[in-house]
Amino acid sequence: MKISVIGTGYVGLIQSVGLAEFGFDVVGIDIDETKVKRLNEGKCPLYEDDLEELLKKHVGNKLKFTTSYDEIKDSAVIFLCVGTPQDDEGNADLRFIYSATESIKNQLDDGYKILVIKSTVPIGTNRKIKELLKDYNVAVVSNPEFLREGIAVYDFFNPERIVLGFENLEYKKPIDVMKEIYSHFDNNIPFIITDWESAEMIKYASNAFLATKISFVNELSKLSDEVGADIKIVTKAMGIDKRIGNKFLNAGIGYAGSCFPKDIKALIKQFENNNISPKLIKATDEVNEEQICWFFNKIKNYYNNDINQKIFAVLGLAFKPNTDDLRESRGIKLIDLLLKNGAIVKGFDYVEKARENTINRYKLDKSKAFYGYNLYILEDLYETVKDADAIVITTEYNFNNEDWEKIKTAVKNKVVFDGRNILNAEKIKKLGFEYYGVGRK
Ligand SMILES: NC(=O)c1ccc[n+]([C@@H]2O[C@H](COP(=O)([O-])OP(=O)(O)OC[C@H]3O[C@@H](n4cnc5c(N)ncnc54)[C@H](O)[C@@H]3O)[C@@H](O)[C@H]2O)c1
Repeated sequence: MKISVIGTGYVGLIQSVGLAEFGFDVVGIDIDETKVKRLNEGKCPLYEDDLEELLKKHVGNKLKFTTSYDEIKDSAVIFLCVGTPQDDEGNADLRFIYSATESIKNQLDDGYKILVIKSTVPIGTNRKIKELLKDYNVAVVSNPEFLREGIAVYDFFNPERIVLGFENLEYKKPIDVMKEIYSHFDNNIPFIITDWESAEMIKYASNAFLATKISFVNELSKLSDEVGADIKIVTKAMGIDKRIGNKFLNAGIGYAGSCFPKDIKALIKQFENNNISPKLIKATDEVNEEQICWFFNKIKNYYNNDINQKIFAVLGLAFKPNTDDLRESRGIKLIDLLLKNGAIVKGFDYVEKARENTINRYKLDKSKAFYGYNLYILEDLYETVKDADAIVITTEYNFNNEDWEKIKTAVKNKVVFDGRNILNAEKIKKLGFEYYGVGRK
C-alpha cells in the first residue's frame, strides 16, 4: 500500500519513517524545499533519538520526500500532519490545514481515498474538511497524535491507544483500512473507534487534563514555599494514591513545547465560541503563564532586585530533555527575562541542535556566539557554569549525574535555582551550595 504523509515536522516525519519501517511505500510531502532536499539526502532536520538512523535506513528505498502533491494520486491513504499553531487571538490557526486540503483536492479524481487528519484540530474541523471534499470519493478519518517529543520514535512504535473518528460507523471500509495499517502494532493496544467530534475532543481533553495536573501542582508549590512544606514530598505522597497517579505531578517552571500551551489556549477559545465560560482550563493557562515570572522574581529577590551584569548559567534550552524544540521553552522565556534585566547569560543544552536553534533564534553570529554578547551558548556544561553568579536549571535533565565537586570549583557563587526540582537538594547543600527549588528548599 502506498501512503502519503503531508507535513514532515515532528509528527509527519516520525509517521513517515515509522510507516516505512512497517513496510509501506511512503511519500513525505512538504512545502519546505530545503527540508525536502535534506531529507532525501538522509539528513534529519530535527532531533529525536533513533530518527536519523531510521530515515537513513529507508530513504531512497521505501521512503521518499517531495514538494509535489502529484504523488498522492496513487496513494490509498493520506495522513495530514501539518502544523496548527496559535493565531493572534489564541485560536488554532488552520491556514496550513486548509491550504493542504486545497492542494489534495486538486489531485483527486474518481478513485477512493482515505484522508487521515493527524494534526490537532478544533472540534468540527474533520466535518469541515469533508464538506470541502464532498464532491470526491474520500473518507475523512480523525486520528489524533499523542507522541511525546524527546521519545517520539519510541512512542510511534508503542502507542498507548489509537483513537479513530469516522463520519459513519456503519461504513466499514475506512475502519478496516485503518485497522489494517495499525495492525502492525502490538495486538493489545486499545482502539477507540468513535465519531469525528469525540475523537477531536479526546486530544484536547487529554492535553488539557495533563496541563491542569501540572498547573495544580505549580499553584501548590507557591504556597509550599511560603509555609515551608516540601512539594516533592507532598506530591510523592499524593501520587501513591492510585486515583491520583504519580505522573505529571512535578512542580516546576511550567509546561511548554509545541502542544500544551497552544492547545490549552485553543480549547479555551472553543469554549468561548460556544458561549461557555472555561473556568478551570483558563486557570490552568493563567497559572502556567505566571509560574515562570514567579520563579524569575524569586531569583531577582535573592539579588535584592538587581541582577545587572550578574552571570547566570542556564542549564536547558529546549522545552524538555532530548529534543531540539524551543517552542514555548521556559528556559528561553527565562533567558529573555534575565537579558531584559541586564544579566549576562551562559546557556547550555546537551542536544547540539537545541544549542544551534538557540543561536539562530537570537540571531547570534555563529562565529561570535561564544563571546561579544550578553548571551553565550556553550557546548560544555563546565564551561557554562564557570564564573557564574548562579546556576539555573530549566530543563528536566538529570543533572545529578554531573560532577558537582567540579562545578563547585568553577562557579563564582554557589547558588542553584532548580526550576525542575531535579537535583538532590541535600547533596548539593552538603557541598556548600545554597539551593532554591520550586516549592522546596
Ligand atoms: N510535535 C508534537 O509533539 C505533537 C504531538 C501531537 C500532536 N501534534 C500536532 O501535530 C501537528 C503537527 O505538529 P508538528 O510539531 O509536527 O509541526 P511542525 O511545525 O514541526 O511541522 C509541520 C510541517 O508541515 C509543513 N507544512 C505546512 N504547510 C504545508 C502544506 N500546505 N503542505 C505540506 N506541508 C506543509 C511545514 O513545512 C512543516 O514541515 C500539529 O497540529 C500539532 O499540534 C504535535
